Amino acid sequence: MKTQELINTANALFAGDKGLLAMDESTSTCNKRFAEAGIPQTIEYRRAYRELIVTTPKLGDCLSGAILYDETIYQATKDGVLFIDKLKEAGIIPGIKVDEGTINLAGFPGEKITAGLDGLDDRLAKYYQLGARFAKWRAVITIGATIPTRGAIEANMHTLARYAAMCQQAGIVPIVEPEVLMDGSHSLERCFEVTRNVQHELFHQLYTQNVDLEALVLKPNMVIPAFDAPKHATIDEVAHATVTCLLETVPAAVPGVAFLSGGQSPADGAAHLNAMHKLYKGKLPWGLTFSYSRAIQQPVMDLWRGKDENVEKAQKMLHFRASLVNAARRGEYTP
Ligand code: 13P
Repeated sequence: MKTQELINTANALFAGDKGLLAMDESTSTCNKRFAEAGIPQTIEYRRAYRELIVTTPKLGDCLSGAILYDETIYQATKDGVLFIDKLKEAGIIPGIKVDEGTINLAGFPGEKITAGLDGLDDRLAKYYQLGARFAKWRAVITIGATIPTRGAIEANMHTLARYAAMCQQAGIVPIVEPEVLMDGSHSLERCFEVTRNVQHELFHQLYTQNVDLEALVLKPNMVIPAFDAPKHATIDEVAHATVTCLLETVPAAVPGVAFLSGGQSPADGAAHLNAMHKLYKGKLPWGLTFSYSRAIQQPVMDLWRGKDENVEKAQKMLHFRASLVNAARRGEYTP
């Protein structure tokens, strides 16, 4: 049985003050971010950018895990070392995004479902052989006047639970990511209500599908007002609402929660995590860490701009941003 191995991996992702780097942007998402930063959108630039990340000195001091994408898991440095081996050398556990993005959910206008369950068993077996020890699947929930519907929440959480069961069978720790988007103008209270509902359904589905709660990681959104909300929330209000929501929905058996950043600025991503640790030190049953993409990588990409001469300073920025969220995990972050 691989259960103990799975539990050990899940707990290792929460070691010390470390966290995860999501570097699993799909080709289209990576290209979109490259276009915004003025970087050519080619496979070689995507490879070079990921090489910059995995060769950053001392990154293993900050990161417990890094999430790769199908394209990147087969890629290597200029010297021919596979990225996955570079991560292992640095003591960073390699993971892999296995969902295939979202499609329209038939029967539910304006809502999405995540694709990728077909053939997932075979892909997981291949990724395990390549060295991946955890996986990620993202479900997306949009808030609007009449959505999310019960039907969309149930379909998405059921899909996440089936994915999680398949991962554990393949010896891979599932990161379950039910992301309530920040798009729109909803309030913090509305985000709380929807996130609570979604996470409650998620753990119901995980239970029904026989998923081992000790061998998974939850990757949720924070409870936060939408981008266009008329009323902003303080750092402590977001921290308090987020932890209250988690305490009401996430069983104590779960080893940890690793937040997505969801479009928050790097400074907010660090400040919110910091406030949760300061306000709830010693009072939480699970670990709380980060699994950010944009809130760590955005300044890195902006500095690199696709130029070799910028690699070193971009790497320093990556290490710096990651170390700031490490400080947040200790409740010692100062902006
Ligand atoms: P962000 O931190 O940019 O939200 O990305 C995290 C992630 O992995 C989304 O699936």
